[in-house]
Amino acid sequence: MSKRNPIIAGNWKMNNTNAGAEKLIKELKPLVKNAKAEVVVCVPYTALATAVKATKGSNIAVGSQNVAWADNGAFTGEISAEMLNELGVKYAIIGHSERRTMFGETDETVNKRTKQAIKNGLIAIVCIGETLQERESGAMEKVLKTQTDGAFSGIVASDLKSVVVAYEPVWAIGTGVTASKEQAQDTILFVRKTLADLYGDTVAQTIRIQYGGSMNGKNVDELMAQPDIDGGLIGGASLKAEDFARVVNFN
Ligand code: PGA
Repeated sequence: MSKRNPIIAGNWKMNNTNAGAEKLIKELKPLVKNAKAEVVVCVPYTALATAVKATKGSNIAVGSQNVAWADNGAFTGEISAEMLNELGVKYAIIGHSERRTMFGETDETVNKRTKQAIKNGLIAIVCIGETLQERESGAMEKVLKTQTDGAFSGIVASDLKSVVVAYEPVWAIGTGVTASKEQAQDTILFVRKTLADLYGDTVAQTIRIQYGGSMNGKNVDELMAQPDIDGGLIGGASLKAEDFARVVNFN
């Protein structure tokens, strides 16, 4: 278990209407109230206001699944940090692999969105991860270094308290195939070393790095026992209260 404060975030993706969000959070609240970790639910934009209201007075914080890089203006379909702040949203996932592969997110847009989140007091959950082909061809470290260098370009050390990194191997997302605890630890250690190259080892030791990709009640304990894994970004297992609570209440 790491010395950093663990953070478990649910990524609901495109699931749950307002009614569904209210119900799930109501069920979740009593189950996670004694959590040792920071607990976050990243819900669809349309359910953010409901989620903030439903979590009031609890230890659950609310996040979005993206944020625009501009303050306002002609950006059809985008949602600004100011709009999120107004609702009481505290976190924003940025650069999830589904956004990168299906919606054209690049290291550059991830970087711009991350800077905008930081500037507006949101905590950015910045996602990186390699595909199976990249891992098997030996390109993994290069890919992760490029993604990390790109995401953090121009971001200064004093802003890193507003950033969480989520290492999510693309081949483990939604597949039921989790990285082994050794794979997850080794790769996250590599990411931390990459951050140390940018900011020095002392600062890199303070940055929280989550694992994501089929993390669930069955594997959370061994993953969270690894020294460099500081939490999880949970997709499928965040959609049922008991499943997510089991992850949040890891041993
Ligand atoms: P999964 O998704 O837990 O369903 O694999 C994780 C994620 O995409 O963040």
